[in-house]
Amino acid sequence: MNAPRKPRIAVIGSNMVDLVTYVNRMPVRGETIEAPRFEMGHGGKGANQAVAAAKLGAEVVMVTAVGDDLFGENTIRNLAALGIDTTHVRRVAGKASGVATIMVEPSGENCILIVKGANADLSPADVERAGDALKRCDLILLQLEISLETVYAAIAFGKQHGVRTVLNPAPATPQLDIAHVRDVSYFVPNETELAILTGLPTESEADIEAAAKSLLGQGMQAVIVTLGGRGALLATADGCKRIAPTRVQPMDTTGAGDAFVGAFARYHAAGADLDAALARAARYAADSVTRPGTQKAYATEAEFEAFERGL
Ligand code: RIB
Repeated sequence: MNAPRKPRIAVIGSNMVDLVTYVNRMPVRGETIEAPRFEMGHGGKGANQAVAAAKLGAEVVMVTAVGDDLFGENTIRNLAALGIDTTHVRRVAGKASGVATIMVEPSGENCILIVKGANADLSPADVERAGDALKRCDLILLQLEISLETVYAAIAFGKQHGVRTVLNPAPATPQLDIAHVRDVSYFVPNETELAILTGLPTESEADIEAAAKSLLGQGMQAVIVTLGGRGALLATADGCKRIAPTRVQPMDTTGAGDAFVGAFARYHAAGADLDAALARAARYAADSVTRPGTQKAYATEAEFEAFERGL
């Protein structure tokens, strides 16, 4: 009997170099304080999601743009070393690669400041150029660290060619035009992004359900709200369902949303139904926050299965 084919996932999105400082507390304006630890790592919401899916055994193609600097070269090498297809990674002359300055508190909570750099140059033409590879994929993943025009073009491409799309609207911007993204198959904000994008409160569970339903009312098919340590919520025309959290001791929550999206894509593309894929995504994200960093904190498939067996 032939082995089932691997799920195929494309990520059209960002890459960053993460400059991570672990602080005892956040500094206030005008203050200089000392922090105990610094680490540099590969990040970017797009690349993180690509790496999570690849570590879990998916075939992944990454459509992104790097600068013509050392960070860009290292990023390409890192993606390739993880088995990700880098054919559609473009080097942008005269631009710096994207960087993210991150501060992580002892609680594991973080603050992130990004400079898009070459990521801002990823264009609808890059989506067209990668068209043949994208058509062979089960799912296309998108975030908002690239231009909105490119995100809109990718969703239109998915609709035209029958490839399902996932939009993680992070970081959220009120400039996102919901009318341009309502054809996305799965819209995956966290509760803060949901509030920014709908203009509605997300203080209570009832608020979150109402805000998610308002997006369904604007034509979206499925809204998945990630709720950190409280799990997630799925809203579709059939109603709202909760995805249970997995209790862990968080060390660094940076990139947990990306772990969730990458794992959801991998399992759903492989045929798991929505409920099952979301349950595994929530467990994968929970496991990721027990280690520092983003991509390097993501478990391989074998490590993740061991984590699940231990629950
Ligand atoms: O979601 C976490 C990511 O956000 C970090 O890796 C950082 O690069 C920013 O893009």
